[in-house]
Amino acid sequence: MKVAVIGSGEMGRGIALVFAQYDNDVVLEDSFPQALDKAKKYIADNLSKMVEKGIIKQGEDKSIQSRIRYSGTMEDSVTDVDLVVEAVPEIVELKQEIFSKLDKICRKDAILATNTSNIKIADISKNVTVKDRVLGMHFFNPANRMKLVEIIRSEFTGDEYFEKAFKIGQEIGKTPVKVLKDSPGFVVNRINAPDMLFFCSVLDKNVEKPEEMDLYARGQGLPMGPYELMDFVGIDTVAHSLDYYAATLSEEYNSCRAFRDLVKEGRLGKKSGKGIYDWSSGKAAIPKGEPSEKVTIMDIFAIEINEAVKLIEEQVALPDEIDIAVKLGMNRPFGPITVAKSLTNAEVKKRLEKLSSFYGFKTFEPAESIKQGKLKEIIQVKSFATTEKKKQAEQAMQSGTREEKKYSTLILEKGQKHVSRILLNRPKHNFINAELLKDLESAIDEVWEDKETRVLLITGSGDTFTAGAELSQFIPGLFDFVEYARKGERIYKKLQEIPKVVIAEIKGLALGGGFELSLSCDIRVSTPDAQMGLPEVTLGLLPAWSGSQRLARVVGNSRAMYLILTGKRITGQQAFDMGIVSELYPKEKVDSGAMELAESIAIGSSPIAASLVKRLINRGADVAYDSGLEMESMAAGILYGTEDMKEGITALLQKRKPNFQGK
Ligand SMILES: NC(=O)c1ccc[n+]([C@@H]2O[C@H](COP(=O)([O-])OP(=O)(O)OC[C@H]3O[C@@H](n4cnc5c(N)ncnc54)[C@H](O)[C@@H]3O)[C@@H](O)[C@H]2O)c1
Repeated sequence: MKVAVIGSGEMGRGIALVFAQYDNDVVLEDSFPQALDKAKKYIADNLSKMVEKGIIKQGEDKSIQSRIRYSGTMEDSVTDVDLVVEAVPEIVELKQEIFSKLDKICRKDAILATNTSNIKIADISKNVTVKDRVLGMHFFNPANRMKLVEIIRSEFTGDEYFEKAFKIGQEIGKTPVKVLKDSPGFVVNRINAPDMLFFCSVLDKNVEKPEEMDLYARGQGLPMGPYELMDFVGIDTVAHSLDYYAATLSEEYNSCRAFRDLVKEGRLGKKSGKGIYDWSSGKAAIPKGEPSEKVTIMDIFAIEINEAVKLIEEQVALPDEIDIAVKLGMNRPFGPITVAKSLTNAEVKKRLEKLSSFYGFKTFEPAESIKQGKLKEIIQVKSFATTEKKKQAEQAMQSGTREEKKYSTLILEKGQKHVSRILLNRPKHNFINAELLKDLESAIDEVWEDKETRVLLITGSGDTFTAGAELSQFIPGLFDFVEYARKGERIYKKLQEIPKVVIAEIKGLALGGGFELSLSCDIRVSTPDAQMGLPEVTLGLLPAWSGSQRLARVVGNSRAMYLILTGKRITGQQAFDMGIVSELYPKEKVDSGAMELAESIAIGSSPIAASLVKRLINRGADVAYDSGLEMESMAAGILYGTEDMKEGITALLQKRKPNFQGK
């Protein structure tokens, strides 16, 4: 491929180098000869270092260099190229003028890319006649080393060019991410924007000293604290970005003073020898002090998660792409989406509300999806739907449920009130086959990881729970059958191990493996006429998905013997009388009744206390009484330090309902 890079400064030289490294013929053009000389030296130095470090072989440096031609005129550089990457200073008129020229002299199918950090692609393509080939290829500094490149489309960019640019990004060893809207700051800089506002306001309000924050950040494993980093980048650059976001995102970005005052005093950071810190020795002289936790890493995470959610809401980029972009663009071990997965909506919302009220900025107010408790849903979006699909998705979200398409034999719904529901969903009686077992295991794992879920409700779709294992399933040999039994045991056991309350809602039939599934849950509710039983012995089998062990633990040996040895069916009413089932609901109310019970436990019980109690009861049954008591007292001790315990007692004294956070 033939590539022209316009502007051989800080970015252009690195971009030219990376294209040449990947076998492309490059022309590096700059209107200033000194700039070209500097670029030549930079490229030569980098290549020698790469040889020294063994990144490229001896001699390869020469062939890479031979693929780069240096030029002082644009006409001479771009006429027959496939791609132009423009990297001249960030001045809109200058870029417009260059693109207008490119439009006239380049081949009509050449991609015209800009490396702009902030200017709208559509503004840059203002004077271009064939606008669909204009897009953003936003490299990060140093362009030859940083893996990320944001591929940005404007409303005019054609799909074909956009996809082609994405592919080119991959072909030059980068990780491209798609930015689907021409929006201020694209992805990485946009996530960073409210951070800058925040760090500036921390100084404006004298919340803590820069060194206190930086020492804390280093203590958290970051290579540099935020203030040291801003000094390194240049306070003028930071202030300039704040001006830009004030013009494009919110006036609030104008209100921060500290950085602008530093610029007025000429304290620009490392480049001027002094900024927030003194850099006269070449390194930041960070005053000695104690790290402070007045501002914590969680504040920054919450702000970044919020901005990421806004980007998804605005359909600028998909969650996974945002995560990759932040990771690679900011050199982080993980991005905001990964962090959001480990937090609850309530935690993020509460922190943002606190920050927005303390600093007085709407920018920190929770994004719409977080306000509505839909953080988990929005960070799992896999594509931006068409208008019709979008409507359906919105309706599904409003009704508080989200259907997972990845399971073919069950439906996993996540509700608003900390309850997830698994609906077994197979033709006829929801018979359990190998596929359903596999889906069930994955769904349990998914719920396990989901911090929002406190109670899992399991039932069948339609009128029946499940009539049990599909006996027509082919199992080749004896040992395969042993393994099949073990598999069921292992998956059902997860329901005992999962640190959430699991409720089985039984209706219609719960036979054999189906009844065993319900026995593996913590609580069972049923309709009075539901049919339950373990008919295995009458078929020459035995209840081998934990039924032989579990039933006795639920109803005692005598009744377990009777039920298993006779294979008799019992009704929901009889199961209730035996204590197997804890609540009965009429058929037409069983779905809503089971859900109400699930929600009342999810909201009314401390999730930590509930999961500890579950573990104590399950484990306690298998150990000596005194050991069980020991476990009990230790668990009680753990609860004593929780915020939920304080909340529970405070709520009781204040005669209100507790608001448990699971902390
Ligand atoms: N520096 C960064 O960290 C960074 C990161 C990502 C994106 N960017 C963006 O990349 C672009 C370039 O930034 P930079 O830091 O490399 O700037 P720079 O000032 O280091 O380099 C710009 C180069 O363009 C040349 N130039 C000026 N007018 C020209 C013209 N009419 N024709 C040809 N060459 C011309 C200059 O001589 C200079 O060598 C900007 O849009 C910037 O926002 C910069």
